[in-house]
Parts: sequence; C-alpha cells; structure tokens
Amino acid sequence: RQLSIIGAPMDLGQNRRGVDMGPSAIRYAGIVERLEQLEYDIEDLGDVAIPRPDRKEEQKSHLRNLKEVAEGNANLARTVDDEVNKGRFPLIIGGDHSIAIGSLAGIAKHYNQLGVIWYDAHGDLNTESTSPSGNIHGMPLAVSLGIGHEELVNIESYQPKIKPENIVIIGARSLDDGEKELIQDKGIKVYTMHEIDRMGMTSVIQESVDYLQDKCDGVHLSLDLDGLDPQDAPGVGTPVMGGMSYRESHLAMEMLAEADMITSAEFVEVNPILDEKNKTASVAVGLMGSLFGEKLK
Ligand code: ARG
Ligand code: MN
Ligand code: MN
Ligand code: MN
Repeated sequence: RQLSIIGAPMDLGQNRRGVDMGPSAIRYAGIVERLEQLEYDIEDLGDVAIPRPDRKEEQKSHLRNLKEVAEGNANLARTVDDEVNKGRFPLIIGGDHSIAIGSLAGIAKHYNQLGVIWYDAHGDLNTESTSPSGNIHGMPLAVSLGIGHEELVNIESYQPKIKPENIVIIGARSLDDGEKELIQDKGIKVYTMHEIDRMGMTSVIQESVDYLQDKCDGVHLSLDLDGLDPQDAPGVGTPVMGGMSYRESHLAMEMLAEADMITSAEFVEVNPILDEKNKTASVAVGLMGSLFGEKLK
C-alpha cells in the first residue's frame, strides 16, 4: 500500500493567520512514524507552493485572495493528480479548507462517480453571493459542484468535479441560509449533530457507507478538524460548540477503515497558533491512524 503525504500550507481562504503552519504541526505530531507502523510505503512530498498575498492590491471582490487561492489550488491539483496517476493514495494535509478545491480537482478526474464524505461543523457550500465572510474556505464544496467563481470552478479545466448525490456531510451545526437552500435544491445528504445524537455515530457511518458504496467508484474523505468539538480540537479558526467527540470521531474512522472504501483523504484547518500544545495536530494524526487501520492490526 503506497501513500503520499502532500502538504498544502494555505491560509488565504480565511483570515486567521497560522493555519499555513498546519502541515508542519501535523508532521511534528508524528504522521510519518504513525503510518509507517501500518506497513504503508510512505512518501512525504513536502509542501506545494502557495503564493504570498499581494498586500498592496485592494480586494475588489467578495472573494478574499481569489487569485492566490486559485493559483495555490492549481498547484495542489497537479501534484495530487500525479500521485493518483502513480497509483498512490493521496493524503493531503492543510492548510485551510479551501484546499479541498485543489484536492478534488486532482482526484475527481480519475473516477466516474467520486463520493465525498465531508466531516465538518460547516457545509462549505457558500458562493460569492451567499458568503457572510468572503472567505473561500467556506466555499470549496460548492465550487466542486461547479457553483462558484470560474477561476475556482475550472481548475484542471473540467467541471463539475462531483455530483450532489455522491456527497455526505457529517457533523454540520453551522449552516448559512444560502447553504441550507443549496442543500435542499440539490438534495445533499446531511447528518447534523441532531441526527448524530439521535442515531449514534455507528448508524450514521453505516448509513453513509451504504449510501455511497454501490454507486461510487472511489470516496474522498475531507475532514475539517472543526467537525470535532472545540474541547477535543481547539486549534481551529472557526470553532463551533457541540461537535463530535474524540471517541465518536475515532469510531467513525475505524468504521471507514473496516468498510475499505476511502481512496483519498485530507485533514484541514489545523492552526497551531490557536492550539494547545499541538493537541489538534496530534488528534489529526491519531484519526489518521484509525482511518488507515490501526485497530485492524
Ligand atoms: N460558513 C462560514 C463562512 O462561509 C464559515 C465557514 C467555515 N469553513 C471552514 N472550512 N472552517 O464564512
Ligand atoms: Mn491523471
Ligand atoms: Mn468547518
Ligand atoms: Mn470546512
């Protein structure tokens, strides 16, 4: 089993500095050592190039740092595409969640029906017109559906990357009005915290696996650390109370490992400046251990 770690030190999709240090924090938390124990052939490719923002240029649109976010994601997409071409599992570490635009651009072209599990407090389904913040990290799932600015939507020259019926959002508890409308319009499957509390994580993951397994030829896991409760993952830029616990999240990862369906993954929004002694990066690495089969060994 061959796996490539790709760092995407992006902090331009939002306005809290420090999330560009996420890839380093995750490496210091021992990602390579942890996964090597699972008999993976690991290659850490280092970080893709993310442009520096042009401080002098005024923001003309409601899309903060559009040019730089688009360019950084185009770089990421090329690297991810190369690794998938080599038959290696791409494990992308962020960086803010805008990097899902590049990850999915590089991955989705290799599948006819790529599934996506979006583990997050947020839907990240905003557009320039619905976004309350102008932050592109609140938009990558919409962009991947082909809804958004053309410079983002057309990365790698095809769109859409994914279809609404192949998406499952897990852990949502902060959705903007425009996002709720899009979820309704497109019929996107969402397990909010309400459903997780009522059904339990076991049923949520079992249903998600059943929902995606037969129709999808690959499934990408996009895990935003703010999906977890801020008590368990404090080092994130947009924390929301009442999230999924450390234990629920490990259970989710273990069940996905058992289902053997995940073909690419990213772990995003680790911000060491906001963290407590690298706790959030350590949690991320622990979750990767479970996702890649620690329990099964
Ligand atoms: N919905 C809010 C916005 O659009 C927050 C998005 C947070 N996204 C994230 N990837 N943490 O600004
Ligand atoms: Mn290719
Ligand atoms: Mn989030
Ligand atoms: Mn997110």
